[in-house]
Amino acid sequence: MGDDSFMNKCLICREEIKPFISFGKMPLGNGFLLPEQFAEEYYFDMDAAFCSNCKMFQLVQQPDEEQMFHENYAFFSGSSVFMAKHFQKFAEDVIKNYLPDDPFVVELGSNDGIMLKNFADQKIRHLGIEPSRNVAEAAKGKGVECVTEFFTESLAEKIVREKGQADAFLAANVMCHIPYLHKVVKGIATLLKPTGIVMFEDPYLGDVLKKISYDQIYDEHTFLFSATSIQYLFGQYGMELVDIIPQKTHGGSMRYVLSNKGTRDITEAVTEQLSYEKENKFDRKDTYDNFKQNCEKSRDKLVELLKDLNTQGKRVVGYAATSKSTTILNYCGIGPELIEFISDTTPIKQGKYTPGSHIPVRPYSDFKDNYPDYAVLFAWNHAEEIMAKEQDFLKSGGKWIVFVPDVKILE
Ligand code: SAH
Ligand code: TMP
Ligand code: ZN
Repeated sequence: MGDDSFMNKCLICREEIKPFISFGKMPLGNGFLLPEQFAEEYYFDMDAAFCSNCKMFQLVQQPDEEQMFHENYAFFSGSSVFMAKHFQKFAEDVIKNYLPDDPFVVELGSNDGIMLKNFADQKIRHLGIEPSRNVAEAAKGKGVECVTEFFTESLAEKIVREKGQADAFLAANVMCHIPYLHKVVKGIATLLKPTGIVMFEDPYLGDVLKKISYDQIYDEHTFLFSATSIQYLFGQYGMELVDIIPQKTHGGSMRYVLSNKGTRDITEAVTEQLSYEKENKFDRKDTYDNFKQNCEKSRDKLVELLKDLNTQGKRVVGYAATSKSTTILNYCGIGPELIEFISDTTPIKQGKYTPGSHIPVRPYSDFKDNYPDYAVLFAWNHAEEIMAKEQDFLKSGGKWIVFVPDVKILE
């Protein structure tokens, strides 16, 4: 990064940005692989930057999207019961509060239909846009209509021609994935009825800073949004935030509700969140320098703890091979010498190895049938659901290791 001729530009406002943290060489978060693929494994430099002009937090380099989202995409939304309930409530809110008669709803990144199923079940006209074929097929199996394509402006135009404009444009955990956000927002502007509503949610920058949950930073998460950065981006296309609602999902997310300027009342929550971000110095360099130091401390503490348990001869496994864990394992340099295997309920991940760190991913039964001394809770965002069903692990004398917001053994 020392070379002045090499200038990185903000993906949103094109101002120069400088990375404030480097996580080193990083493989794909969902790039679970077999030993014969180790030699050819893909890596990119994972550096994060904060744009002091438009306030967008972003990755400086991103892998190509086709490399991440394809016919063997490893993440199935429906693997969490809690998330299924969450999307049911999300859909109910949209239906009750935002839809006119005979509505048309579009969802970006509809995955296995976890959200749109709720509209399909009520015979509401809908369309999912989902480029990863395997998950899109799963959605179709639930009666959800979708196109297997990346969202583009021309796709937006095609949808308008064939189905008309949308009353609601929904998205969850996908807007933050897309580097070419201007094109996406232009596409939304084309697709949306003048009176339509845009609702999307993504992990919130404020939660990541507060909880030091740096594992939210991985290849697919090109951005970490805030109210300030979203207002800036959508403002350029005549839209504004009309409501903002914090969510517990994915370790702390934010739901952004936007519409064309002047078409709806703006809730106090919007003004309050914008002030909160200013008061908490989301726009200041120091904030990110502190965050970097906190990440380093967290990393050192986790490595020390695992090495210590290893020296004591304890059996340590991982619980849930999340995409987030790829950042933890690679940034901390943790491999199979410290974590015996990671148990995961997703069939496509089982029998494979974790990206970069090459820890075996095994079926859940390997955990359940032979409890370890310690389990690192990689799916900390699903802690409530997991803790509730793993009482027997504790009864067997097993203990959880957590790392968000602090690295510790749960006693
Ligand atoms: N909405 C679901 C899935 C999130 S994972 C949930 O919250 O659980 C992100 C999904 O977005 C993946 O299924 C991926 O294939 C899809 N996706 C990625 N880039 C996209 C793009 N440019 N257009 C539409 N979908 C995209
Ligand atoms: P996520 O954190 O990106 O939602 O991914 C969750 C991963 O955790 C997914 O691979 C499924 C796995 N998982 C389990 O193995 N057991 C569980 O009980 C839950 C909730 C998730
Ligand atoms: Zn910028």
